[in-house]
Amino acid sequence: MDADQEICLCFHVTRRKIENFIRLDQPVRAGQLADCFGAGTGCGWCRKYLVSLFESAQSAADPEKQSSADIPSAEAYAVMRREYRAEKRNRGDGDPKA
Ligand code: FES
Repeated sequence: MDADQEICLCFHVTRRKIENFIRLDQPVRAGQLADCFGAGTGCGWCRKYLVSLFESAQSAADPEKQSSADIPSAEAYAVMRREYRAEKRNRGDGDPKA
């Protein structure tokens, strides 16, 4: 996956920004990634991927654990997010960015 691929499409936060935030700010919970340019605080689509990146970084620091963030291509990711937002709208969950 391209380091410049946006993980949070709402706030245009790239994988590189998130990984640098994890490395430099050393958050202890995935929810703290919201402090990285607001990642995950819009529609919510990217939260599971933020958790995946967080857990992957934790695993990299612990040789006992093996894990890697499995993030689809940019095109597939954008399509999946569009579908997520459409479903959310249809449920009436009130996507403020819709
Ligand atoms: S894509 Fe990250 S909050 Fe919407």
